[in-house]
Amino acid sequence: MLLEIIAALVVGGLLYHFVFRKRDDTLPMGDGWWGAGQRQDDDNEDIRPFKIETTEEELNDLFHLIDQTRYTEPLEGSRFNYGFNSTHLRKVVSYWRNKFDWRKQLEILNRYPHFKTKIEGLDIHFLHVKPQNLPPGRRAKPLIMVHGWPGSFYEFYKIIPLLTDPASHGLSDEHIFEVVCPSIPGYGFSEASHKQGCNTVEVARIFYKLMRRLGFREFYAQGGDWGSQICTNLAQIAPSNVKGLHLNMVFASSNSPVFLLSILLGKYFPGLFGFQEEDVRRLFPFGKKVIGHVMKESGYMHLQATKPDTGGCGLNNSPVGLAAYILEKFSTWTDPAFRDYEDGGLEKKYTLDDLLTNVMIYWLTGSIVTSMRLYKENIGRGIGVAKHEKVPVKVPTGIASFPNELLHCPLMWAKLKHTNIVSYNYLPRGGHFAAFEEPEILAKDFLQFVAKVEQK
Ligand SMILES: *[C@@H]1O[C@H](CO)[C@@H](O)[C@H](O)[C@H]1NC(C)=O
Repeated sequence: MLLEIIAALVVGGLLYHFVFRKRDDTLPMGDGWWGAGQRQDDDNEDIRPFKIETTEEELNDLFHLIDQTRYTEPLEGSRFNYGFNSTHLRKVVSYWRNKFDWRKQLEILNRYPHFKTKIEGLDIHFLHVKPQNLPPGRRAKPLIMVHGWPGSFYEFYKIIPLLTDPASHGLSDEHIFEVVCPSIPGYGFSEASHKQGCNTVEVARIFYKLMRRLGFREFYAQGGDWGSQICTNLAQIAPSNVKGLHLNMVFASSNSPVFLLSILLGKYFPGLFGFQEEDVRRLFPFGKKVIGHVMKESGYMHLQATKPDTGGCGLNNSPVGLAAYILEKFSTWTDPAFRDYEDGGLEKKYTLDDLLTNVMIYWLTGSIVTSMRLYKENIGRGIGVAKHEKVPVKVPTGIASFPNELLHCPLMWAKLKHTNIVSYNYLPRGGHFAAFEEPEILAKDFLQFVAKVEQK
C-alpha cells in the first residue's frame, strides 16, 4: 500500500511539475510609499551623515527601569530549556547596569561612517564603509550586506574590515569591497513603515534604490535570516544589477513535489535526491532534527507573524524583558546544545559587550515592535503563498551552509529556486549569526564565491 501511494505521488508530482505548472519567471520591481498619511512629493534625495548619540537622560531612564525589574525563579536544573535562566539573567543585567561601558561602545559604533537618506517616504539608515588602503589602480567592488532579526547592522562590524582590507587580515586581496549595511525599515535607526504591507520584496526595492542612489549599477549582495530573503528578492527584482548573491541561510522552495518526496525518501535513497552524507546527517530523522527542532524554536515566529504589537508591547517597556527575548536567540540559534548550559553558552562565541550593544540598538530606538512586524508582513498570510517564493533566482548564487543553522537547506532544495548556484559549501562550525559569530569563515567563503563569479 505504501509503495502504491509513493508511486502515485511520484507520477502525480512529475506530471504536475512538467506539464501543468506555470512558472512565473520574473518578479516586478513595483513601487511603494510608506510614510505617514497621504503620499507626499518625491523624496528629498540628500544623503546626510549621521552619528549615533544618546543623552544622559536616556541612560538614566534605562537604569531606572532595569532597577524596577521583577524576576521569576527558574525551575530547578532547567538551564535554558524553559527560556532564559533568570538567575543567569540577573548576572547579565548586573554587568549591563554596572560594568557595561556604553560610551565606549558608542565610539566603536561611530567608527564607521553612518548616513541617512529618504526613500519611499522613510528615513533609511546605513553604514557605508570604503577601503582605507586601496592599492593604486584597484577599484573596490560594491557589496550590500543585510542583517536579520533580532540582529542589526552591528552584526557586520567584525566582517567589514576583512572585506574592505582583506590583505591586512591575511586574506586574498584579489577582490576588495566597499560595504553598505542598511538597517531594515523598523530596525534600529531606520524609520519604520507607517503602512501595512512593507514586506521583504518592498524592502528589497528600497535597498535597490539606495544602492542606485549611491551610484552603484552592479553590486554583490550578502545576507542571512531576513537579510537572506531581502537579498534574494533584490536578485529577483533587479537581476541585471546584482552580480552575485551570497547567502548563509536559504529559504527552501516548498512548492515543488520533489521537495516533499525528498523528505519522505531522502533518508533511504539519498543519491536519488543528490543528498550528501552531511545532508542526511543534518536532516534525518526528519521528525526529530527538523520538525522537533522547529517546534521548539519557532514559538516566537507564530507570535510575531500574528500579533506583533501585543507581543512586543511589554518588551518595549522592559529593558530586561527585551534583553532576555533577544539574547535567548543568540544562545540557542548559535548552538542548540546551549539550551543545556546554565548560562546559555552566551559567552562561548560572543562578548557581553557585543551582545548588549545589539540589545541597546533595539532599546534606544524603541524598535522591537516594528522589527517583529516583518514576520506579520511576510508570513502572516502563510508560507509558500507569496509570488516571490515561486520565482526562480537566476543570478550567480553562493551558499554558505553552517552546521548549526536553524533550517538546513541541501543543495538540491536550493536548486529548486536558485538556478545558477556557483558555490555551495558545508562550513566547519557556526550557526545562525554567521557574520557575528564566525566572521572569518564567512568572509573566506564569500571571497572564494566572488572569485568564481568574476572568472566566468
Ligand atoms: C542558571 O545559571 C546560573 C549561572 O549563572 C547557575 O548557577 C544556575 O544553576 C542556573 N539555573 C538553572 C535553573 O539552570
